[in-house]
Amino acid sequence: MNILVTGGSGFIGTNFIRYLLNTPAFTGQITNVDALTYAGNPENLSDMEKKFPGRYRFIKADICDQAAIEKIFDDHGIDTVCHFAAESHVDRSIVSPDAFIQTNIVGTFTLLETAKKRMDRIVRFHHISTDEVYGSLGDTGYFTEKTPYDPSSPYSASKASSDHLVRAYHRTYGLPVTISNCSNNYGPFQFPEKLIPLMILNALEGKPLPVYGDGGNVRDWLYVIDHCSAVWEILQRGKTGETYNIGGNCEMKNIELVEKICDIIDQKQVPGFNGSRRKLITLVKDRPGHDRRYAIDASKLKAELGWSPITPLDKGLYDTVSWYIDHRDWVNRVITGEYRSWIKRQYG
Ligand code: NAD
Ligand code: DAU
Repeated sequence: MNILVTGGSGFIGTNFIRYLLNTPAFTGQITNVDALTYAGNPENLSDMEKKFPGRYRFIKADICDQAAIEKIFDDHGIDTVCHFAAESHVDRSIVSPDAFIQTNIVGTFTLLETAKKRMDRIVRFHHISTDEVYGSLGDTGYFTEKTPYDPSSPYSASKASSDHLVRAYHRTYGLPVTISNCSNNYGPFQFPEKLIPLMILNALEGKPLPVYGDGGNVRDWLYVIDHCSAVWEILQRGKTGETYNIGGNCEMKNIELVEKICDIIDQKQVPGFNGSRRKLITLVKDRPGHDRRYAIDASKLKAELGWSPITPLDKGLYDTVSWYIDHRDWVNRVITGEYRSWIKRQYG
């Protein structure tokens, strides 16, 4: 495999590249193409560049830039695409949707066109998507691969649109695609705007923990490495033209999850706050169009490829809290924007 990973400097892409390079069955090369938006941090992988010389390279480029993308496909003999690059934060999409339309829809289209022109050597185009395309569940039921699309936010509508394009390129042109729709990920290297890292860092500093609405919204949490192993299985053995749901089988109300984070930090006796950090939880104005509940039925992936999540939430959450405590340097560079200065020095 000579694999193009898009968005490899973001949260899941970083974990995926680290996972793949450390997987003995993977003997190929990885080219990571990332535009380095606020969410992209190539420092996450600088050790991999040293540890795996010749097998990992980074190129700063925008997936909407057709000429740059075509050149990368040809210069590096790309035969497999694993497409993570996206604008990924729902709250940002509510305030400024433009970049979501551009990257998530036009960027995906650009990659599809480039791959279509090289159909003779592309063996797989895997598109990473989200369970948010299915909209919101009531108190019961699960999203399956057959659930109709019903996105609520500009983010999920842009991801739904990109999924439709990917499927259309398979049906119309025969591009060998697969799609995965995954639930909420958590783990190392996640930008501290998303719920879990934001709550960890605020709780560590004794700041308020803003929970939207009544805190009763439910998400299905998946440790990021389990997502990576699912994508790797699909890349190797997923059936062309198919969609696979990926989930953690781990539903939890936001308020309960935040309480768990507080309790872990209290148990670790992190100094700087007196009493239970649960006191920091503050209910705030709800997110517009806030989906109430997500829950994934991942039985197709289990039945066809034998994949199930293996990391229990309590372990994954404990490890994640520990990672943020042990990587204060990474956190400080991200929070202060110092990583942006480094990127400017390295890549202009
Ligand atoms: P992220 O925001 O952490 O990373 C996105 C990466 O894409 C960044 O490195 C950014 O620089 C890059 N990027 C953005 N625009 C680009 C462009 N025009 N050209 C090239 N690179 C660009 O996101 P993430 O959480 O790692 O999500 C990765 C993928 O997984 C996304 O497609 C997202 O929709 C999907 N997903 C995420 C989750 C989750 O819980 N985080 C769950 C399901 C699916
Ligand atoms: O379900 C998969 C999706 O999960 C991915 O496609 C998205 O890229 C990813 O960002 C995530 O979307 P969410 O909107 O579910 O994640 P977020 O971390 O923003 O919020 C999780 C829940 O917590 C959601 O119900 C909103 C709530 N929330 C979030 C923040 C940032 C709060 O209550 N307070 C907050 O400050």
